[in-house]
Amino acid sequence: KITSIEGRILYNSRGSKTIEVDVESEGKFVGRVCAPSGASVGKYEAVSFRNGRPEDSLQVLKENSQKFIGLESSDLKGIHDTLKSFDNSSNYSEIGGALAFAVTIASMESASKALDQPLFKTLSNESSFKFPFPLGNILGGGAHAGPGTPDIQEILICATGAKTIEESIETNLAVHKELRSVLEKEDPNFTNGRGDEGGWAPKLENQKALEVSAMACENLGFTLGKEVSLGVDFASSTQWNEEKSKYVYDRAGFENTTSEQIDFAADIIEKFKLIYAEDAVHEEAFEDMSELTAKFPNTLITGDDLTVTNKGILSKAIDKKSCNAAILKVNQAGSLYDALEFANLANENNIRLITSHRSGESTDSQISHIGLATKSKMLKVGVVGGERVAKLNELLRLSEHDLIRGMAEV
Ligand code: PGA
Ligand code: ZN
Repeated sequence: KITSIEGRILYNSRGSKTIEVDVESEGKFVGRVCAPSGASVGKYEAVSFRNGRPEDSLQVLKENSQKFIGLESSDLKGIHDTLKSFDNSSNYSEIGGALAFAVTIASMESASKALDQPLFKTLSNESSFKFPFPLGNILGGGAHAGPGTPDIQEILICATGAKTIEESIETNLAVHKELRSVLEKEDPNFTNGRGDEGGWAPKLENQKALEVSAMACENLGFTLGKEVSLGVDFASSTQWNEEKSKYVYDRAGFENTTSEQIDFAADIIEKFKLIYAEDAVHEEAFEDMSELTAKFPNTLITGDDLTVTNKGILSKAIDKKSCNAAILKVNQAGSLYDALEFANLANENNIRLITSHRSGESTDSQISHIGLATKSKMLKVGVVGGERVAKLNELLRLSEHDLIRGMAEV
């Protein structure tokens, strides 16, 4: 049973303020979770903090902490309902999604410690688990990097041919490293600067950025689509201009109509044999996403801003066949309970899940467990940077666990 719950203000990897919560059970089992936050935030995601202020969310926790005392820390629904008892909004605007995130995951971590078992086991009744393939940012642009970098937000690597979690992490690291050499040759003024998620942030336009990424893979003797595959997070809502009804590529200097955008994404998917294409059109373009999903059955046509880890919105995407994969970011949903509901709906409908970090992260690693428990096919957590490597290192620790056997089937 929960004996205390307390929060504090800390900083995320971008140096912005965030909330950390400690949930204690039986006076000694402490679950501690620090909330992440995004930069390319979906219109329909949970609000991060009450009034946009971490301090205000923390105040709400202080005022309501007594309501949690005596609850079973493993009773996720009970914890969730208690949060909802003082936030009736649909998007956690009263308490902030960050608070819902931290309280629910910290409770489950506290319960795991009391039960002396890993978090993924507490979150799932399955008797065996498979590792999701790490998917990581090797080149960043858009909202995650400065002027001159690609408009496209993320170019990602995934070692789709890897047989073990060790091999998949090693391969991603090797490609990230090789890309640095390629970029240094390409541009003698390249500073080795990186974007928010650890991908290199060179001054290159979109096509060139994709070409150097492919070159890094080939230099290592890998064939795209075999040992390794590339992915892209277009994060197209950041380009979408509602008034013009066009996608505006400021940095590259062109604009796409909605049909041009579909062709733009389709060309990239084909040319670079992408295994993964996220938010290739803007967050309300469900029909345009359907076109891509029909056209590319062998690519994970993935919703992030499109589906915002929201069960109702995912239902709509399923009805319209708008995607065959979806990002799971617990803080988009708010509470872990909401996120697991979303995961169930996705799994029941053959929507492949990708559990994901945010661009502003903590050094916590619970999402590695959440990826396992939700049967995620991929875990999108970056390649380098302390806050990214923390999640990968946790997967390596978990490889000592005999309940987890082999890699997921993507
Ligand atoms: P965010 O970006 O965490 O900045 O929202 C990540 C993404 O769009 O996938
Ligand atoms: Zn995204």
